[in-house]
Amino acid sequence: MKITIIGTGYVGLVTGVGLSELGHTVYCVDTDEEKIKLLEHGKEPFFEPDLGRLLKKNIKAKRLFFTKSLKDVLNKTSFVFICVGTPQKRNGSADLSYLFEAAEQIKKLSIGGKIIIIKSTVPVATGDKMESILNESNNAHFEVASCPEFLREGRAIYDFFNPDRIVVGSKKYSLCLRILNLFAKIKTHKISVSRETAELIKYASNAYLAAKISFINEIGNICEHVGANVDDVANGMGLDKRINPHFLKAGIGYGGSCFPKDVKALKYLSSDGGYNFRLLRAVIEVNNKQRKLFFNKIKNHFGDLRNKKVALLGLSFKDNTDDIRESAAIDIANNLIKHGAKLYCHDPRAMENAKKVLKKKVEYSACAYDIMDGAEALVIATEWPQFSALDWKRIKKLMKYPIIFDGKNILDKQLLIRLGFKIINMGK
Ligand code: UDX
Repeated sequence: MKITIIGTGYVGLVTGVGLSELGHTVYCVDTDEEKIKLLEHGKEPFFEPDLGRLLKKNIKAKRLFFTKSLKDVLNKTSFVFICVGTPQKRNGSADLSYLFEAAEQIKKLSIGGKIIIIKSTVPVATGDKMESILNESNNAHFEVASCPEFLREGRAIYDFFNPDRIVVGSKKYSLCLRILNLFAKIKTHKISVSRETAELIKYASNAYLAAKISFINEIGNICEHVGANVDDVANGMGLDKRINPHFLKAGIGYGGSCFPKDVKALKYLSSDGGYNFRLLRAVIEVNNKQRKLFFNKIKNHFGDLRNKKVALLGLSFKDNTDDIRESAAIDIANNLIKHGAKLYCHDPRAMENAKKVLKKKVEYSACAYDIMDGAEALVIATEWPQFSALDWKRIKKLMKYPIIFDGKNILDKQLLIRLGFKIINMGK
């Protein structure tokens, strides 16, 4: 099949690369000229495992193309995936201007008969609005469907080929089947529902996962009072198949470009419809509080943070990505700077992005050991697995005081205590 993808962010690019790998001919469109040039040369604009390899492979196979001009490709294709950003507005609602801009552009070209598939995360009933914009004039007719994306950053390529389910929403069952057929080679649960249902499945899934994280963080906070261990509690809970062990990792709360935005958007959507979604309010409140609780542990240890040399491992919002959007690590870094600490940071991938927001207020090092030299405390704020494998004997010799604040509970506490470290965790 021939497919157009509008927007080459995480969702668009991974979808484009994935669909071309499945054998389709894919044209990716973006207004960012520099990005298009980069992509044409097989260079990925952000770090995502395996993306670069598949990008180059499919460009070479002449199944994957990049362009700034929608006009040049729209008439060649039958399916158009809309994968533009839906950022958060000040009031928490989703900003749909990029989405509607894309609709206007498609409409202007007046090439009807296309199937428009919304992959961007959008509030319920956005499909209806898209349909009325696109079909305002009688020149051309467009079908609009919803096909929400569930990929995780850092595991996006894996998730594309191994999804837990593919959801398509449309008024017409036959249209759902045509879209699901694009993914015929992927064996998974495939469900066709109404467009509104598909839109809500995405929000409900993200909100539920966020709620699971806030729940375990609350349990962790109780653990600290009663002398229990949150990892062991989560393990004991997760063995119950009805609960499952995923998304029960306590720490400094969730970040990223999706959970914070989507949970707030669902809360807004509910209150806009006159419904008070009490649980979501609590999910957000707990998440905001969690990073503050962690920072207070560091602050209380020092009393006065001024001129204290602090090493910070991790800047991205989670492991395996260079993305720092809504990263708890960046918040903690900012708070440490604000309180006068001298901050030395390391992240395997996110330092270039972090420099854009933290600027020169901190020192960066490509070597994790360099930041430990003379450090009076070490803070871990991202769950990069390689941090656990560092040479802790060496670090013990480098640090001035061997105290670690492990905000993601990733280190082997017993081992480090044996080496002479003091470890402060979340929920233990
Ligand atoms: C999420 C959803 O998982 C994905 O389905 C959706 O399409 C987009 O949003 P992503 O934001 O890439 O994906 O990352 P995810 O792995 O879900 O983690 C989100 C945040 O939650 C991270 O900050 C992570 O550190 C945190 N987290 C995750 C926890 O604190 N505890 C956990 O147990 C799991």
